[in-house]
Amino acid sequence: MFLYLLITLLVLLYYVITRKYNYWKDRKVPHKPPTFLLGNYGDMYLQKKSLGEILQDYCNEFPNEKFIGAFQATEPVLIPKDPEIIKLIVTKDFASFNGRLISDHIHKEPASSNLFSTYGDSWRVLRQNMSPLFSSAKMKNMFHLIDKCAHRFEEMLDRETQISNFLEVREYKHSGRNDFVDLVMSWKTSKQIVGDSIPNSKTREVKKVSLEATDNLLVAQCIVFFAAGFETSSTTLGYTLYEIAKSEEIQKRVLEEVDSYLARHDNKVNFDCISDLPYLDAVIDETLRYYPVLGMIPRELMEDYTMPDGTKLDKGMRVHVPVYYLHHNPEFYPEPEVFRPERFLREEKKKINPYVYLPFGEGPRFCIGMRFAKMQMMTGLITILKKYRLELADGMPKKLKFRALSGITRSIDGIMLKFIEREGWEKRVFAK
Ligand code: HEM
Repeated sequence: MFLYLLITLLVLLYYVITRKYNYWKDRKVPHKPPTFLLGNYGDMYLQKKSLGEILQDYCNEFPNEKFIGAFQATEPVLIPKDPEIIKLIVTKDFASFNGRLISDHIHKEPASSNLFSTYGDSWRVLRQNMSPLFSSAKMKNMFHLIDKCAHRFEEMLDRETQISNFLEVREYKHSGRNDFVDLVMSWKTSKQIVGDSIPNSKTREVKKVSLEATDNLLVAQCIVFFAAGFETSSTTLGYTLYEIAKSEEIQKRVLEEVDSYLARHDNKVNFDCISDLPYLDAVIDETLRYYPVLGMIPRELMEDYTMPDGTKLDKGMRVHVPVYYLHHNPEFYPEPEVFRPERFLREEKKKINPYVYLPFGEGPRFCIGMRFAKMQMMTGLITILKKYRLELADGMPKKLKFRALSGITRSIDGIMLKFIEREGWEKRVFAK
């Protein structure tokens, strides 16, 4: 009896695990046969490679396909490789692909009703209500906050970069800073936020939608702004400093640009620093190409859909946009393993197809904090480089390996650098 029960259970389990393994075969979409239970993402689960690298290897096995299929454990995944197909998914047919893979869980976990994770109409209402915060005028008004941070950072570096756990507690009232916290607090006062629905994919009809501004909704947005804004920018800064430390030539050019910028602006950093330091901006862009923080951008199909070649996909289909693969593809970036900021200077930058350069994503869901991130990274870099020259610490490898199982592209060894005081730094202390 027990044996029968065990066999039935095992058969049932086998069925549950493998029941979707013919998904791509049935649709004649190129794919590799999945490994039992692990699908095609085994190296991630076995902690051998990062997700970005797994997708890179997988995509490279299908050099001529515009999109391919795979299995993440037991679930089918669509991987778009061609820029036109990526454009279709993230921009043109965004109404169908507006989810982020976890729509089934949003209602179970309050923190996941945040702008990054949510989908459909609640995503659109949140996005519409938050976008004005990132307009040029608002960012210009907020720049004094970044400037203040730069002064603090300057002092902190002077004190040999001792880290202090500083926590500012703020009351539930408008602070007059017009920053993100003020915006979220204003929702609390008005008790709800109103916006438009996602346009219906067939009729293009748009309805008015309102969301109740519950404490959970507000907390969820604060969590995601900290998570999406802090870790991403600090990781990118780390890689940028590492690449500057590695190349004398790049470092020389960057330091000259920083010194000349400060000389022109009386030792003050301004809102327009991004356009005023084109080479350093190109170094950041190339860093984001070489080390995209998200090696894969997720989307979820929110309704049944037919691809241009007639392939029918079911609602709930996961989509993994293979950012790391695209950024390291010689077809789009000659000698992709060479770190060359010039790719992002002047005319060369204009040649890059936006759907193969995706450090901040694309389409209606692209990173809402992109310009803010650039502004704060640029200011941080100026603060460091005006005083210090960088060298790799002893034992630091010239090529980084990435951690498996980390959602973001992160170095296994960390990044250790020597900060060496530059001659004449006293001339470049920030004006008070
Ligand atoms: C170097 C820094 C950053 C990088 C590399 C980065 C990258 C990304 C990427 C790849 C996405 C997904 C885009 C897509 O699905 O098409 C994203 C979304 C997002 N980012 Fe950033 N980000 C950075 C900084 C920031 C900052 C500073 C903030 C906030 C101030 C922020 C807030 C968000 C939010 C809220 C989303 C979700 C947008 C949505 O789904 O509508 N990010 N980011």
